[in-house]
Amino acid sequence: NQSQSRKTSRYEEPLKRFTDAKNQMKDIYNDLEGCVQNLSQFYDDGSDANKFVPEKEIQEVRRFQDSISTIQKMFNRDKMKVVFFGRTSNGKSTVINAMLHQKLLPQGIGHTTSSFLKVEGGSENEKMLQIEGSDTKLPITDLHRLGNALSASDGSTKIGTDSLITVLYPKASSKLLQNEVVLVDRVDLSPEYDSWIDKHCLDADVFVLVCNSESTLTQAEKNFFLRVAKKLSRPNVFILNNRWDASSAEDDDQIEQVRNQHMKRFMTFLVDELKSCSPHECKDRVFFISAREVLEQRMKDRGELANAYQQDGHARRRADFNNFETNFERLISKAAIRTKFEAHDRRAREIITDMKDNLDNVTNLASQEKQRLKLDYELKNREFNECRKQFSEFEQRYREQQQRIRQEVHLKVSADFHLE
Ligand code: GTP
Ligand code: MG
Repeated sequence: NQSQSRKTSRYEEPLKRFTDAKNQMKDIYNDLEGCVQNLSQFYDDGSDANKFVPEKEIQEVRRFQDSISTIQKMFNRDKMKVVFFGRTSNGKSTVINAMLHQKLLPQGIGHTTSSFLKVEGGSENEKMLQIEGSDTKLPITDLHRLGNALSASDGSTKIGTDSLITVLYPKASSKLLQNEVVLVDRVDLSPEYDSWIDKHCLDADVFVLVCNSESTLTQAEKNFFLRVAKKLSRPNVFILNNRWDASSAEDDDQIEQVRNQHMKRFMTFLVDELKSCSPHECKDRVFFISAREVLEQRMKDRGELANAYQQDGHARRRADFNNFETNFERLISKAAIRTKFEAHDRRAREIITDMKDNLDNVTNLASQEKQRLKLDYELKNREFNECRKQFSEFEQRYREQQQRIRQEVHLKVSADFHLE
């Protein structure tokens, strides 16, 4: 029953599957580490009994130990990673804040986020910033100054637009941070794609393109993803048509028409150009939302805001945002398990096979050694028996000789006696 309820809760909470997989992987590698350590102790015990174990096999076991400890360190650092893109002011920071249920990242009109911002879960009360390449930790209150393009222009900030600021925030403050999701907020699409695709995107499990529903997908946005797709086959991409609240002034027919028009374009892009998903999957990849409405509603629910911004038709946009989050959580955990742990799982299998071969070799050598010792013993035994046989023959011959001498002496004595 307990395992059944664990299975059910895992199904309801896809993000937990990643932590589950990570814990399972930890157990596998701990077991493996124990086995390899036993083997190494046996090979290295220095007694004459193990003299026959070849150096090659001993060295191989040392290599297993090294790779096991490297992999253990690696997966302890592994997290699920999502990168957000889109032109400036489309609402990337607002989407992230809405997903975190709090106004953590600076958001505003004009060009706001100036660097790469990476939000990561830290320990309790850990609210600080870390700038790439520097060990100093700054208070979170500096975020608006450092990560904000407006203050950067006053000359007080020396952070380059390519630098990465890690925002460490208590895990307990959000479901995403608690479950080891790392969120990267990137300012618009710089033309130097390759260097930062290599630097920040190759290990991303999911990309979220935040569009402005009032305009169409630009060539710059398309080009960026086409470059990503060249480096990562079939990248997992979500498209958020943000600011969909702007459509509330239109009548329902018109909204539906625009929605279908956008949907058709995005399908062509995701399915035909990017080859990121099938036409059937598109409905779970493209959403029409208002990040501002969702964020403000969530802040209101937490008692941080008296009145939340809301336009007509907000319920459907909110449902779409929730739907996006559900699909996002499913896809990111699936992708992260596949990309992060499948390789470790494969390596564990390889180590087990190699270790089995190593043991088979040594077992063969051990039986050869046993055979050699047995033959040695048999040979010695044969030689010993031969010696014994020779000795008994010699003894026999000696006795006969003695007998003969005695008889001869006796004959001689009695002849002498008779002669006399
Ligand atoms: P940069 O950091 O400059 O690249 O911008 P960004 O993409 O991070 O945009 P940001 O989240 O800062 O949002 C820009 C402005 O748009 C802010 O004033 C937000 O409050 C507002 N905004 C974001 N999402 C929505 C939305 O869905 N509807 C409306 N009406 N406003 C929004
Ligand atoms: Mg921003």
